[in-house]
Amino acid sequence: MIKTIENILKEGKIEEYQAEAKMLVLEVSGLNLEEILLGKKIENEEKIIELAKKRVETKAPIQHILGFARFMGEKYIVNQNVLIPRDETEILINKAYDLVKNIDSKIDILDIGVGSGCISCALAKKLKEKEIEILGVDVSLEALEVAIENINKLDLVRKVILRKSDVYSKVRDCEKFDLIVSNPPYIPLAEKENLQEEVKNFDPELALFASDNDGVEFYEKIILGAPFFLKQNGFLAFELGINQANLVKKMLEKKFKNIEIIKDLAGIERVITAQLK
Ligand SMILES: C[S@@+](CC[C@H](N)C(=O)[O-])C[C@H]1O[C@@H](n2cnc3c(N)ncnc32)[C@H](O)[C@@H]1O
Repeated sequence: MIKTIENILKEGKIEEYQAEAKMLVLEVSGLNLEEILLGKKIENEEKIIELAKKRVETKAPIQHILGFARFMGEKYIVNQNVLIPRDETEILINKAYDLVKNIDSKIDILDIGVGSGCISCALAKKLKEKEIEILGVDVSLEALEVAIENINKLDLVRKVILRKSDVYSKVRDCEKFDLIVSNPPYIPLAEKENLQEEVKNFDPELALFASDNDGVEFYEKIILGAPFFLKQNGFLAFELGINQANLVKKMLEKKFKNIEIIKDLAGIERVITAQLK
């Protein structure tokens, strides 16, 4: 079966045809690789073939074809209204967790640009022993609809709340946070044409692009407002685009201390964290 699907995808010029064929067969059949290799009967072969053909015809990302993406051990519902969670974001989540894990009182977190909800949900899961409240905001109502589904599915309704807000516009003056975390849109609009077709055509523009030349407008907005919404000694944690670490570091230096930059496996400066002075 995997070979059949590989052939459909290969003929349809899907670059990662082997990995995607395996993913389609395993996810849709519900069997593991060993069971497949031992020849266990696959009940829904027709469905798998239909999805492979859809992948070829539409060129939509495999996660849109399946309706979900796996991220940090969980399945997240995704569609054209949210960014598909990226592996790099795990670095941000792990670092954000390290910053707050030793706080003994209730932990309040603000996630700006919540999208599918993957950051908020993964943090809530990692901090399950703690008393926490995460406020996830997004300017896109359609994205919030996906996030609420994921929060419900992962049974996190008591820990993660959502609000439509343009950055801080609907965050109340009285709300103060131990951590503000964000994976904001950071691709300069001018780079749109250089993006992979799948990203350009299927990830929502609102999730990808910043309107300035360096792609740093959201970092600037979030950093400027952060001293007002952070508790004493509170933290900021951002995912970064390529070559943005120094620009963002400069923006942070006036009001923040303990600035740390973390590289991803490819050696790209991917995450920056800081603490309010
Ligand atoms: C790069 S995506 C990140 C989504 C998710 N947090 C993740 O890491 O996969 C950025 C998110 O910011 C949201 N966004 C864009 N402009 C915004 C704004 N002005 N205020 C709040 N959220 C915004 C987008 O709708 C999108 O969901």
